[in-house]
Formats: sequence, C-alpha cells, structure tokens
Amino acid sequence: MIRLGIIGAGAIAAVHIDSFLQFGDLCEIVAVCDTFSEKAKALIAEKKLHAKAYSLVEDLLEQASVDAISICLPPYLHANIAIQALKAGKHVVVEKPMASSLEECDLMIKMAAEQDKLLCVVSQNRWKTPLSKIKRLMEEGYLGKVIHASFDSLWWRGGNYYDLWWRGTWEQEAGGCFTSHSVHYLDLMQMLFGMPKQVQGYINNVSHTNSECEDIGFAVFSYDDKVIDFTSSLVSHGEKQAIVIDGEKASVSMPFTVSAYDALPNGFPQQNKELEEMILRRYEELDSLPLEGHPAQLVNFLRAIGQQERLEVDGNEGRRTIELIHAVYKSAIEMKPVSLPLDKEDPFYSKSGLVGKMPKFFTKGKSVENFSTSKITLGRDFNA
Ligand SMILES: NC(=O)c1ccc[n+]([C@@H]2O[C@H](COP(=O)([O-])OP(=O)(O)OC[C@H]3O[C@@H](n4cnc5c(N)ncnc54)[C@H](O)[C@@H]3O)[C@@H](O)[C@H]2O)c1
Repeated sequence: MIRLGIIGAGAIAAVHIDSFLQFGDLCEIVAVCDTFSEKAKALIAEKKLHAKAYSLVEDLLEQASVDAISICLPPYLHANIAIQALKAGKHVVVEKPMASSLEECDLMIKMAAEQDKLLCVVSQNRWKTPLSKIKRLMEEGYLGKVIHASFDSLWWRGGNYYDLWWRGTWEQEAGGCFTSHSVHYLDLMQMLFGMPKQVQGYINNVSHTNSECEDIGFAVFSYDDKVIDFTSSLVSHGEKQAIVIDGEKASVSMPFTVSAYDALPNGFPQQNKELEEMILRRYEELDSLPLEGHPAQLVNFLRAIGQQERLEVDGNEGRRTIELIHAVYKSAIEMKPVSLPLDKEDPFYSKSGLVGKMPKFFTKGKSVENFSTSKITLGRDFNA
C-alpha cells in the first residue's frame, strides 16, 4: 500500500485526491499540507480521509510513513519542494508546469536519479481517447507523412483570475498562457512529433491588466520535415481547442474530422471518399481508453512505484515542454528565431535570467490570498 501526502490543498488538490481515491487497493492518503492548515483540514473532512493535516511541508516530509507526494503548489515552489521530497526518499508527482526554469528541471531530474525515486510530471491530457486514436492512425500510416500541424490552445479567463496572489507574475507563476495553459498542448505536440529544430514566437497581453505575463501568443515550430503553428490564448470565449494534422494522404483533426484529397490532372483536389471512410471506420473501431485524465496518469504513477508499469511521463518529458515554452519567450523577446536545444549558458536557461529578460506587460496591483471558491470550470463542459 503506497502512503501518499498531498502538498497544497487548493483547486487541483481535490482532483488528485478524487483520482487517488479510485485506487484504494493501491494507495491511501495519509497527509495533506497547506500553509492555511484550515484548507488542509477542510479537504480531509470533505473527502473523508484518514489523514493528518500539516501547515509546514518540512514536517510532512519528515514522516517516514509517507512514501510518495503530490505537489499541488504554485509553480515557483515545484522545484524546491520536489527536490526536498526526493532527498527525503519520497517518490514525487508534480503538477504542471514542471518548474520555473530548465535549470530547476535539471536539478529535479538529477535528484530523482541520485535517490532512485520516481519523478512524474502531470500531463493528464495525454490520456484522452480521441488523442490516443489519432496517434494510432498516424502510427498505422493512414495519414501518410505528416507535413503540417496546427494547435489551437484556446482558453478564456476573467481579469480577476489574476487576483490570486501567485498568478500573473514571472516570479511565481513563471509565465502566462503559454506556461499555465498551453503547457498541455505543447506536451502533446512534443509527444506526437518530438522536439522541433527552431522556434519563432510572439507574445502580448491584450486584456489581463492585473498580470505581468502574456495572455496571447503565437509560435511557429520548424522541424526538418514539417512545420507546426501554435496559438495560445486566454481571451477566446468558447475555448474551441483543436489540433489539425495534415498528412500527405489525409488530414485529421481533434475534435475528430477526416478529409482526404487526391489531385486532379490540373492539381485541383478531388475527394477520396474511400480513404475518408476507411479512416473513419478505423477511428471508430479503435478502443476507447479505460481511464482518462488525472486518474489515468496518477494510477500509472502508482503502478510505476509498484514496478508494474513503466512511468509514462518522467522529468525528462516534463523538461521538454518547459524548453519549448522558454524558447518561445526568448524568440518573442529577442524578436528572432531560436534554435533548440537551449544551452546552459543561455540566459533563458535559469530562472533569474528569464525573469530578468521578460517584460512586465502590466503591474500586478490586486492580490488576494484565496478565492471564495476553488471550483475549476472548463469551456469544454459548456460546449458539450
Ligand atoms: N493539470 C491541470 O489541469 C491543472 C489545473 C489547475 C492547476 N494546475 C496546477 O496546479 C498547481 C496548483 O494550482 P491550484 O489552482 O490548485 O492553486 P491554488 O492556489 O488553488 O492551490 C495552491 C495551494 O498551495 C498552498 N500553498 C502555497 N504555498 C505553500 C507552501 N509553501 N506550503 C504549503 N502550501 C502552500 C496555497 O495556500 C493553496 O491552497 C499549479 O502549478 C497549477 O498550474 C494544474
């Protein structure tokens, strides 16, 4: 039985707890920690846990009775607490974004290796049925060689979203919509296509006046054999998230559509209905995932601790997404293309370098310690 500690008792902690509770045969939650101990106690009561509440992380980490921890803290604390926990001999799963800098990612990865403990980075969107089916279609060659893809990471947040004390600051949130929201689609991009050779980025803040960081941005990722365009937004009512993948034989998108054209003798298109129907049939016959989202990823973490499965998303995977984000920032600020990988001498490798270079679009004036509700609502729920 794996004994878990949850650090941070805010919005996402409830999702971690609900997920772990589905696997009562593998784990039990024995500790919950929050600087506001009343939040830890309230969560323990609400979820009916047999767990102890802590207000100091150090006190929780001293407990030999805790085998693994979930870090559900603001981004600027991820690296430091993960390193302390690994050093104390705990396995760690850390929420996205993995850390505030590549340097921090490297220190986390190093500590996990030295301590021979697992370091897992949350990227729950890898476990979504439509994505897994599209990945299979690509692997099975239905699209032909992929030459272009388009990622629309469109979200909407009110201006007061940034009133929460740690949000909207380079120091504490470590970035705007690219870091906090598009981290998900960037992770999917690098999972499907690997790392690009070059990045061109643009960022701005067009609406969120209580945030130093970007609320909109665009990037073009160049590979040897394909190009990917990426839109990141926090100002898009309706949040119509989409991925379009153009292969030489056919194009598919998520939410799922398929189109396939052949060329007429003059180069204009004619529809290849036979191929479209074949791809649709294959899409429909592929199995749905048994579990999706956080529960699917967190049970992989538990089973990897028990050595029943390979850990799907480790520190190296999480680091790649941070590298993409920081390359976009560097390109946007220096107004030129950036080649990957970023090297250790680059100012954008370290947090102090990044914070020193990034512009403050607005000065954060208003700051609250907690919102009255921590419920997370998502555009896709309204559009369903
Ligand atoms: N995977 C996802 O889809 C998803 C969704 C939402 C949030 N997140 C991520 O989860 C993390 C937390 O976000 P949230 O929305 O739950 O934030 P939150 O502010 O609601 O919760 C964070 C909690 O950490 C506590 N805290 C802060 N400093 C602490 C410390 N030193 N010791 C103990 N407790 C401390 C705060 O009091 C707060 O209760 C962020 O990294 C965020 O990006 C991920």
